[in-house]
Amino acid sequence: MTNFATYPSLKGLPVVISGGASGIGETIVREFAAQGSKVGFVDIARDRGEALAAELVAAGQSARFAAVDITDVAAYQAAIAGFEAAHGPALALVNNAANDTRIAWNEVTSEAWDKAMAVNLKHAFFAAQAVIPGMIKAGKGSIVNFGSISWMILTGNLTAYTASKAAAHGMSRSLARDLGPHGIRVNTLVPGWIMTERQLTHWVGDAENALIDAQQALKGRLYPADIARMAMFLAADDSQMISGQDFLVDGGWAHG
Ligand SMILES: NC(=O)c1ccc[n+]([C@@H]2O[C@H](COP(=O)([O-])OP(=O)(O)OC[C@H]3O[C@@H](n4cnc5c(N)ncnc54)[C@H](O)[C@@H]3O)[C@@H](O)[C@H]2O)c1
Repeated sequence: MTNFATYPSLKGLPVVISGGASGIGETIVREFAAQGSKVGFVDIARDRGEALAAELVAAGQSARFAAVDITDVAAYQAAIAGFEAAHGPALALVNNAANDTRIAWNEVTSEAWDKAMAVNLKHAFFAAQAVIPGMIKAGKGSIVNFGSISWMILTGNLTAYTASKAAAHGMSRSLARDLGPHGIRVNTLVPGWIMTERQLTHWVGDAENALIDAQQALKGRLYPADIARMAMFLAADDSQMISGQDFLVDGGWAHG
């Protein structure tokens, strides 16, 4: 028993989630599955994705996994078509996958720049393109693009990543205008510093903990479930008149 919401509109809802095998995406997959949604998720990490889907199915929940590199647009769109064949057209899309590899500005190659755009931005548009026709037919749908506070707070050594994450806002707002007449909503979910496995093993040490304590108004730590709850709210009918907006879940980080 928790104090958190159960959403009747998520029960039986076909949802597609990218990067669902680990990190925030894994928790998003678990939370939607627990709500009774029909979850289709992709990740490049085959073993973890297959194990997660098997665990959820064994628990009586609905989850299908496809091992896909989301930078391969054709393969990703084919995986989405596979989920649609099994679950019906997706009425929610959570564009969560990304890669925050840090590179100093003078070491960014042309190839590294293109790779960052592909893994952090391009897939989100082409996944949306794959699910929109089904949403139009249904007359409703919700697309959640992922931003990041990193560019808002001037994080260094992340130029291509922050450029792609800032671009998510423009993409969301333009799509919100195009799709609003069809009842489809498009919003940007902006995580603060979330204590995932990767963050804890790669980036969060004593200095970073001191920074979080100084910058966050709320003195706890943010965890993937904090982001999953916002993704669920934005997918559920509870947010039915919200589109083109940014939702920062950052513990009240001082952006000044
Ligand atoms: N963790 C944070 O503090 C934080 C802060 C701001 C924004 N975000 C955003 O939240 C989202 C999730 O971040 P996270 O911290 O869970 O990341 P993560 O690196 O822990 O997990 C990303 C997932 O995406 C998958 N993935 C990466 N490249 C892929 C590819 N080419 N094809 C398919 N799958 C691929 C990975 O295997 C992994 O399962 C991202 O959009 C990220 O930019 C996270």
